[in-house]
Amino acid sequence: MMKKILTPQAVETLLGWYRANRRDLPWRHTSDPYHIWLSEIMLQQTRVEAVKPYYARFLETCPTVESLAALPEEKLLKLWEGLGYYSRARNLQKAARTVVEQYGGKMPASFEELRRLCGIGDYTAGAIASIAFGIRVPAVDGNVLRVLARLQGSHDDITQQATKNAWREALAEVVPEAAGDFTQSLIELGATVCVPNGEAKCAVCPLASVCAAAKEHLTDEIPVRASKKPRRIEQRTVLLIRDGDRTALRKRPPTGLLAGLFELPNVLGHLDEDALPAYIRSIGFEPLKIERLDDAKHIFSHIEWHMIAYDVRITPEFDGFHGTSGMLLVQNDDLHANYAIPSAFAAYKKYL
Ligand code: ADE
Repeated sequence: MMKKILTPQAVETLLGWYRANRRDLPWRHTSDPYHIWLSEIMLQQTRVEAVKPYYARFLETCPTVESLAALPEEKLLKLWEGLGYYSRARNLQKAARTVVEQYGGKMPASFEELRRLCGIGDYTAGAIASIAFGIRVPAVDGNVLRVLARLQGSHDDITQQATKNAWREALAEVVPEAAGDFTQSLIELGATVCVPNGEAKCAVCPLASVCAAAKEHLTDEIPVRASKKPRRIEQRTVLLIRDGDRTALRKRPPTGLLAGLFELPNVLGHLDEDALPAYIRSIGFEPLKIERLDDAKHIFSHIEWHMIAYDVRITPEFDGFHGTSGMLLVQNDDLHANYAIPSAFAAYKKYL
């Protein structure tokens, strides 16, 4: 379907609404492109309230692109600990190094150059270009797609790249002079008024009078998303292996899920207490006492971990890296200060 888009009058209405109703968010007090870039990366797949403390802490440690480029990887991952999707942090740093090497530490002020940086796609390049540099380019994320699809009453599948491209091209035609406010106004409307899951607040929407979905009561049906593949469920057995004030950690492989992060040792399947001692010996420890802990569940984008867990006390002979199993015994205060443990293990971190 051809995309019909906001009239100049509707754009003005939306801008007026945004200026009167916008939330007071930390990244709306800055025009530093690096800070806006960081906020946009953190806000991908992550709620505003969850991002706020991370954004503040990150900028205390890394106030400039140069400081980010020079940060050791473990410190970077520690700053990102609990935020998830850690490849975002690694890509951010890779791009920061490019900005230092190719642009003297200053973010490039063009959509095309931003788009070429690691981890920056069409949406993020559009968001930084419009918000930080006032360039008249569109930024279309999930929030914005929902708003646009409802305005037009479009049943096109918004997970399709062709649908996203069509909306981006249509939106490009109407970006006003106030490009940054326009980008944020669409995001804000999607986040606070034109919300998903049958909760759209059409009664307070500035665009309700020009919205097809509002008029025809279609906000529960639109946007259309092709049904996603169900997540794969993995049963895992997690081990809290301790000898007093040290806990066993293992570094994950350099690619794939939670790449390169430290984790509590764990194994596929639910091992019962009879099978455990042999497994624990196979990874280099001698168990003294084993106790079952609470079960826990963690949901990743494509996988669910259904975890059982055991507290395993070991004899304190073990020292440092174990040759074959990649295992490390770490003092608990060192662990808290210096190791990023993914949120998947949150249920067991309270024991450390
Ligand atoms: N989500 C993505 N970008 C955002 C922004 N600039 N403000 C609030 N929520 C957002």
